[in-house]
This record gives sequence, structure tokens and C-alpha cells, in this order.
Amino acid sequence: MSGSLAQLGGRELTRTVYTAEEIGERVKAMGAEISESYGAGDDLLVVGLLKGSFIFLADLVRAIELPLHVDFLVASSYGPATVSSGNVQLLYDPEASLEERSVIIVEDIVDSGNTMNRLIPLLEERRPRSLEICALLHKRVTQLALEPRWVGFDAPNEFLVGYGLDFSESFRHLPYIGSL
Ligand code: IMP
Ligand code: MG
Repeated sequence: MSGSLAQLGGRELTRTVYTAEEIGERVKAMGAEISESYGAGDDLLVVGLLKGSFIFLADLVRAIELPLHVDFLVASSYGPATVSSGNVQLLYDPEASLEERSVIIVEDIVDSGNTMNRLIPLLEERRPRSLEICALLHKRVTQLALEPRWVGFDAPNEFLVGYGLDFSESFRHLPYIGSL
């Protein structure tokens, strides 16, 4: 582990949890599973939840061998106040219409499940043909109203960074996932 990369933000990584190679293999396998789950006529829309999913989404869509469109959304679990209200606000809405499309929401990590539990009903209102979640990591500390159809790894209940995941905006660019 490179010292300079691993000590950003005044915090140190204690260990590597998933290497770049392990992530790469798993993401390729997830792409293959998704490719088998849909047909070429399914009008697939892959929606990345920013910012955490940006690297995962980039690798995942390149492993899906079907025609698809990519869009993004930004959800904030914080209202105008600085305390978590448990409400989800859409700060950026996908440009694409979800109606009658096969939609996959791509999330970096499921922790308390609050984000997904509140986001999914909002998106269901837009009447997609189908709506599925693909999460790279799932801490399994909670059950979602809609469980992800695809999960990369059942993650330890630790604070993980890298491969898109941040601690106060640092560490997102690490090619591997580590624990603080
Ligand atoms: P939830 O709403 O508690 O499921 O949390 C989901 C969001 O919290 C994720 O999309 C992440 O942005 C963030 N998060 C939760 N756990 C971690 C972690 O271990 N490392 C970095 N971000 C996390
Ligand atoms: Mg975050």
C-alpha cells in the first residue's frame, strides 16, 4: 500500500479489504450476470447514484454486453438543516425518462438502507417497466424494502473507502477498497 495514497485527509487506512484485482473480477462477473438477465430489446437504463458509484458504474457498464443508456442522479439524505432528517432529496434528477424502461440503480454501498428505501418509491412513481438495484457493497446490517438484485461483496461493518467511496471527499480515487 502506497503511503502517500493511503494517508489522505489526515486518516490512515488500516488494511486493504478488496484489491483492485478482486474488484475487477467481481465487477466483470456482475456485468455478465446483468447481460444474461435482460434482452437486447429491453431498453436498459443504468442510473448511477453520485458521487460514490462513479468508478463502479464506469467499470460495470463496460462489462455489460447489451445496448444501454447511462444517466446519473444525486440524492442527499440531508435537508436544509445540518442534521440528517432521514429525508431524501433529489439534487440532480436523471435527464432520461424512466417510463417503461428497464432501470438499474447503481449504488456504491448499502449501509443503513435509508437512501435506497426512500429513493426507490420516488423512482417507482415514474413507472419504469422494471427497477432493480445493483450495489457493489452491502454491509447486511439492514434489509431493504427492495433488496439489490446484484451485490458485489457482503462487506464488513467498517468504514470503507476507495474505488469511489469517500471519507470527507478523500480516498475516492484509490483503485482498491480499504478500511479506515
Ligand atoms: P445508507 O443510506 O445508510 O444505506 O448509506 C448509503 C450511503 O452512505 C452510501 O451511498 C455512501 O455514500 C455512504 N456510506 C455508507 N457506508 C459507507 C462507508 O463505509 N464508506 C463510505 N461511504 C459510506
Ligand atoms: Mg459518501
